[in-house]
Amino acid sequence: MIVAQISDTHIVHGVPDADRRVADLERTIADINALDPRPDVIVHTGDITHGGRPEDYALVASLFRAARAPVYVAPGNRDHREHLRAALAGGACRATGSPFLDYSIEDFAVRLIAVDTVTTASNKGDFCAERVRRLLERIDADRAKPIVAFMHHPPFVVTVGPDALNFTSPEPMHRLQQALQHSGRVIGVFCGHVHRSTGGWIGAIRAMVAPSTATTLRKGDFPQHLRDRPIYHLHRYDPAFGFSTEARVVAIAGDDRVAAPGARSGAGGPAGLERRRDPSEHGLER
Ligand SMILES: [Fe+2]
Repeated sequence: MIVAQISDTHIVHGVPDADRRVADLERTIADINALDPRPDVIVHTGDITHGGRPEDYALVASLFRAARAPVYVAPGNRDHREHLRAALAGGACRATGSPFLDYSIEDFAVRLIAVDTVTTASNKGDFCAERVRRLLERIDADRAKPIVAFMHHPPFVVTVGPDALNFTSPEPMHRLQQALQHSGRVIGVFCGHVHRSTGGWIGAIRAMVAPSTATTLRKGDFPQHLRDRPIYHLHRYDPAFGFSTEARVVAIAGDDRVAAPGARSGAGGPAGLERRRDPSEHGLER
């Protein structure tokens, strides 16, 4: 099983790099489509749009239709739950009957659980008692398969970004950490929000953060020839060893080699991905 992870596309109309963000998502989906073997599923870990407007989600929905693998999303702090649900319900968002956009996908060797860490009160994450209850119920709905949870805010201390804590306070992050660890069946957590490729641990659970798919918003230093090349994560599942994560550089015409040297990651996180540009240069907050 191969999971392609994209994140923080921040699709929006009316900003100078709006077309670029669209092109980055288009090129990333085309690159995923061209992989052999092709990923089984694509997860988007939030900030799908920048302003949460219906027209932005309509554009996203049209771009997702080009994907040859199913796409599933978790909301980010820049998303609007109801507009997202209206545009993507039944497709990339399977949440029903709840104000929260959380759900599970049971079609693969590993169960996928989308976790909603969003609060309208902050750009940072939250995780209330009701969401703990819903996550535990979802985790225990099947006790046979391993689980990957995907969400926007990383529920661990991120040592490379400006904010080590990406939740409103330690308490909601600890509630989420405990819920994820409660069964022993969660073997991976895929996140976004930080806009750079990094990783951490939640107890014994490996957690990875994918960079922003939008090249104008991606953090980290990159050589000139990679600055306009989207980078996304490929998570390959092995029943004996769990997930390994590789950072994939989107191919361009004429490439004879598309993977960045040193971009493959193991337990220590992606190598070769360094600081390029801070989103604050564009007046954008995460
Ligand atoms: Fe973002």
